[in-house]
Order: sequence, then C-alpha cells, then structure tokens
Amino acid sequence: MRDLHDVDARHYSTFRLAAKFSTLWEVSQVEELASLEFTENPIVLGEGSNSIFLQDISRPLVRYLANDCQVTFAEDEVFLHVEAGHNWHQLVSVTVANGWWGLENLALIPGSVGAAPVQNIGAYGVELADSCLYVDFFEWESRQVQRLTKTECLFAYRDSIFKQTLAGKGVIVAVGFRLKRAGQPKLSYQGLDHLPADASIDAVFQAVIAVRQSKLPDPQQLANCGSFFKNPVVSASRYFALQSHFPNIPGYKQSDGQVKLAAAWLLDQCGFKGARLGDIGCYEKQPLVLVNHAAGTGEQLTEFVGHLQATVLAKFEVMLEPEVRMYRE
Ligand code: EPU
Repeated sequence: MRDLHDVDARHYSTFRLAAKFSTLWEVSQVEELASLEFTENPIVLGEGSNSIFLQDISRPLVRYLANDCQVTFAEDEVFLHVEAGHNWHQLVSVTVANGWWGLENLALIPGSVGAAPVQNIGAYGVELADSCLYVDFFEWESRQVQRLTKTECLFAYRDSIFKQTLAGKGVIVAVGFRLKRAGQPKLSYQGLDHLPADASIDAVFQAVIAVRQSKLPDPQQLANCGSFFKNPVVSASRYFALQSHFPNIPGYKQSDGQVKLAAAWLLDQCGFKGARLGDIGCYEKQPLVLVNHAAGTGEQLTEFVGHLQATVLAKFEVMLEPEVRMYRE
C-alpha cells in the first residue's frame, strides 16, 4: 500500500485542474481496504478520466489497483472476472484479439474497469450493462465484499446504483463479464453504418477507434473528461413541442417512449463550438466535450458550466446535467 500526502491532483484527473489531495491511498488488496482508518468515507478514484477536482481536497482518496483477469470458457461463451484496476481499453483490446464479442464498440474509452459500471459507460450503440454479469463491491461499513448481479446494479443511461444509493459507500473491486465466442457486429450507430453486416470483430474495433480519434480530443494532448453533460431525456410531447420550434432537432426514441436529445446539438446551436472562458472551453469539433487548454481553474470551469447551462435553458428550456463527477470541499 502507498500512503501519499500533499499530492498534485493534476496527475490523477485527465481534466488537470490545479488542486491538492491531502491524502491518497493506493491499495491492491481487499485486506488493505479493510484496514484503512478514516472519519469520512474516502473518495474512490480510478484513472481520473471522469473526475474533476475543483479545489483542494482534504477528504482521503483511495485507488484500488489490483488488475488481475481470470478467464473461464463455456461452450459458446467466455466469462471474465476482472479486477478493478485493469485499464479498460487494454481489456477491450485483449477480448478483441481473442475474438470474444461484446466489448468491441467500447474501444478507447479512457479509464479503469472498476470505474466502468459506475456510470454504465456506453458508446456506439453498446453499454457496459449489455455484457456485465456482476460487480463485486467492497463496503466500508461491513468491510466485506458483496456481489451484485447485473439486475441489482440498476444500470440505466450513464447511471447505476453506484451513483445512487451506494454512492460513497465503498469500492468496486472486480467486474464479471459474459462475452460471446461468435457474435454479430452492432453497427447501428452513425459512423459504423458503412461497415458490412458481417464485419469482423477487429474491423468494428478499428472503426470505433478511428471515429473516436476523429471526433474526441486525446486527454494526453488536450485535458478533458469526455462528454461533460448527459444527453437530456424528455417526454415525447416535450420533444414534439421543441420540434415545432426547431425542425432539425435530433431526437432518439427510447424504449419507454421518451426521447433522448443530443446535448452536443443544443450546445452547437448556441454557438459554443470552440467557445472559451480563460483556458476552459468547448472542444472545437464536439462542444459537449469541455477542455482545459492549460491553466484553467475550478472557478472558471464553474462559471463556464453555469453559462452553458443558462444559455441552453433559455433557448430550449432544457437543463443540461453534468455527466462527469465534480468534487469540491
Ligand atoms: N452534434 C452536433 N454538433 C457537434 C457534434 C454532434 O450538432 O459538434 C449532434 C449531431 O446531431 C450528432 C449528435 O449530436 O448526431 C450526437 O453526437 P455524437 O454522435 O458525437 O454523440 P454524443 O451524443 O455527443 C454520446 C456519448 C459519448 C459517446 C458517443 C458515441 C453521452 C453523454 N455521450 O455522445 O460518450 O462516445 O455518444 O456513442 O452519452 C462520454 O461519455 O464521455 C462519451 C464521449
């Protein structure tokens, strides 16, 4: 276990705002988690690709780094038990190299396996919930690991029990996956529809990587945390009302009849592509991705986010809700 103090938060968040952590514990065994002592439950951090620290944090933080992966074969399926510290894209790459279908559309998403269930990561028509079997969750109160089935995880669009009733209550230590040894490519999303219906798993993987690289900034080159807001979901009647004012407004019908709007489109219509406040801004190719050009601050980000929300609300009467997790004291 590493017990770090007065840590530069910029190394632990891909948004790289200047801040300090008083205490950061890096552990790789459940027994070490169980032995930690604190008065306030720690903040759990993976690779920091969805966490933004707006100011110095005195609450302890913990990273769980165990990264083993166990594979079990069944007739048509492959079962994986992957510890939380495993890098997500590396896992996807290994499954693709072995021809195990299920995760290929989720290539190149930054972050760790343990973070993936928290917001039920999703891209190009697939989400984690589609192949997740269970999540092992260490609870601070009982100091025990409990296994939640996929149903118990209450996965929804960018949401799960880990953001709701279990928020702050413990640490995801492993995730179980069920993958297929022979699969059908999922090509419905715009950007993959040029592939043939019998595209190989590797062709899908490469196409996802290409489309992500063409649209999204690499956090190594330009600090960002991917989509900053969730795509808002509105009732069908609300969508039709919006459509009467804005005939081109994109809307994606959900299974419950509601309609998902494109936050990127709403921001784009307000002219926010490439907009800036100091070093904080909207990415020039995709306004839903907020970026830190270098020396952005927590205050600037808070002000900029408020301005984006207020402008979209005034024009469309839709409130954008952050998808990233923002921490302040
Ligand atoms: N659009 C614009 N202007 C733009 C970009 C997009 O008007 O500059 C409109 C277009 O109508 C486009 C629509 O917005 O069809 C949707 O854009 P895009 O396909 O880029 O996807 P998104 O809804 O902005 C979501 C996820 C991404 C994920 C992509 C692909 C959320 C919050 N974001 O973005 O996830 O990669 O779909 O599946 O659901 C992330 O969560 O960090 C993330 C990057």
